[in-house]
Amino acid sequence: MKKIVAVIGSSGAIGNAISNRLLEDDSVETIYKFSRSQKSEGNQKEKNFFIDIEDENSIKKSTENIPEDIKFDMIFVATGILHNDDDIFPEKSIKDINADKLKRVLSINTIGPTLVGKYFIPYLNNKNKSIFAFLSARVGSISENKLGGWYSYRSSKTALNQIIKNFSIEIKRTNPNAIFVGLQPGTVSSFLSKPFEKNVKSENLFTPDFSASKLLEVINNLESKDTGKLIAWNGEEIQP
Ligand SMILES: NC(=O)c1ccc[n+]([C@@H]2O[C@H](COP(=O)([O-])OP(=O)(O)OC[C@H]3O[C@@H](n4cnc5c(N)ncnc54)[C@H](OP(=O)(O)O)[C@@H]3O)[C@@H](O)[C@H]2O)c1
Repeated sequence: MKKIVAVIGSSGAIGNAISNRLLEDDSVETIYKFSRSQKSEGNQKEKNFFIDIEDENSIKKSTENIPEDIKFDMIFVATGILHNDDDIFPEKSIKDINADKLKRVLSINTIGPTLVGKYFIPYLNNKNKSIFAFLSARVGSISENKLGGWYSYRSSKTALNQIIKNFSIEIKRTNPNAIFVGLQPGTVSSFLSKPFEKNVKSENLFTPDFSASKLLEVINNLESKDTGKLIAWNGEEIQP
């Protein structure tokens, strides 16, 4: 049976690269793409829908576009923020912490993906293996935190990792075929990483397409025992 997949945040660098790889994959029948900036359907395999993950009603409404008989073999959440063109930038020190900015980062990186889980989990295939993957980050690991800083981004990803673990525990009872994972994509050239790319050796800065190919490899190799984990682009498990 061919697969039906969903990508939430398909307009981002990694979300777009994942979508393009899935479009070329003959084992995939249809891709449901959800983003704020809808693009026209260039391929009959894809369907585009609007979603704003900062608005619970928008997330709920976006699922109303999914036909009742559709079950996803994979749902890939590729949304996220580290900085914006306006006033958000990772905090270097305690004095940079600001309540409104902290709330905004948590809203996009933690609350949004959590609500996406709430409304999309019922659409996961429960007859065969299905994957619910969320792009997370290594800096969300408490045990690996040696540098400090980046208060809002780090903590938003730490909390996301906990949510993913919780989903995995609860859904194991009703859908033992479902695997929930956080994925670390490597350092990938994108709007999100742009201000920090100069600090990264060129061989460690991935193109979105390279990262997407490695992440899809990781996803294809996932087993039930991996549910709830944070896994890097190279298959390495990252400790919480
Ligand atoms: N790039 C890296 O080096 C790196 C490293 C570790 C982890 N990650 C994680 O990977 C994920 C994707 O990053 P990226 O590098 O692909 O960044 P990106 O190109 O900036 O993409 C971010 C995506 O998030 C979407 N988004 C933000 N707020 C949204 C909202 N309210 N509603 C709907 N969509 C929203 C953006 O949509 P619009 O196009 O509408 O703005 C865009 O599709 C993030 O979770 C990031 O933390 C990235």
